[in-house]
Amino acid sequence: MEVHLPEDHAARSLAADARSGLTATPKSLPPKWFYDAEGSELFERITRLDEYYPTRAEREVLDERAGEIARLTAAHTLVELGSGSSEKTRLLLDALRHNEMLRQIVALDVSETALRDATAALHTEYGSAQVHGVVGDFTEHLGLLPGEPPRLVAFLGGTVGNLLPDERAKFLRAVRDVLEPGEWLLLGTDLVKDPDVLVRAYDDAAGVTAEFNRNVLRVLNRELGADFDLDAFTHVALWDPVNEWIEMRLRATRAMRVRVPALDLEVDFDRGEELRTEISAKFRRETVADELAAAGFTMERWWTDSANRFGVSLSRAD
Ligand code: SAH
Ligand code: TRP
Repeated sequence: MEVHLPEDHAARSLAADARSGLTATPKSLPPKWFYDAEGSELFERITRLDEYYPTRAEREVLDERAGEIARLTAAHTLVELGSGSSEKTRLLLDALRHNEMLRQIVALDVSETALRDATAALHTEYGSAQVHGVVGDFTEHLGLLPGEPPRLVAFLGGTVGNLLPDERAKFLRAVRDVLEPGEWLLLGTDLVKDPDVLVRAYDDAAGVTAEFNRNVLRVLNRELGADFDLDAFTHVALWDPVNEWIEMRLRATRAMRVRVPALDLEVDFDRGEELRTEISAKFRRETVADELAAAGFTMERWWTDSANRFGVSLSRAD
């Protein structure tokens, strides 16, 4: 495991993000702070919920297409960004290994605990390949990725939809910049569909997503000494039909003042005030192709699951 970040990086950047987000109008927090050990576990529970179809839909595509992806890319290195448990990735790894191509596996995630577990398991299961775990932020640390070309960069789970449009354009451009012409990007994108289906995926009956959303407040309490009362915030998931994204918020059920000692900050919430924690953009084939083209990729393949819920594209760097 390689930690390519200074010891206090997480604390410093969390502090900066919390200060700018909590003093903004409307208030917001960036989503990467959901994923401490507990947040990563809650996310794994989300992937198994009946309502949360994206994981199953993406797995269906990968299950069907992994062989084709391995043949087309002939990749020696699989680089996975925002790898989490790397569960679906094994379908790709198995196909690459089957063709005797696989030499290196690189997984990058902000969650050190998730990465540690995933890379240990990958090391056991794919012993003949070198496994690198990189703790880092995929919006900042792509330059640090090792790996022998040709490389296949996988960005799964629809996580690209958690970036705002301008962040997304910058991110895709940065991925393109670390690749040589002819190398590959495999991108998972959730698709626009019935808003009821979408909202249920982000507001499940058992309340796991609500717990996951509130976990970001627990992270602020622990890391910055804040005194957020988690019970005073309810989970909100809304479909925004103009931007075509799901927006996740935490709504204050009463007026309150929250202290954040590490920032020397007091934050007032009105009753009903909402804090934005996450967007999850939903896509259409043409917009994905256009955004990839603008970043310097050519989309060579586009696959969806049988119910047309989730798209997986394979693109080549120009
Ligand atoms: N790829 C997995 C996990 C998706 S959840 C899947 O498809 O199921 C999103 C993952 O991205 C989490 O593991 C989270 O820790 C990681 N993540 C979120 N923001 C990140 C960032 N800015 N940099 C690196 N990893 C990030
Ligand atoms: N990448 C996942 C998605 O957008 C992350 C996610 C799933 C998520 N459920 C969530 C993020 C709930 C915040 C809250 O589908």
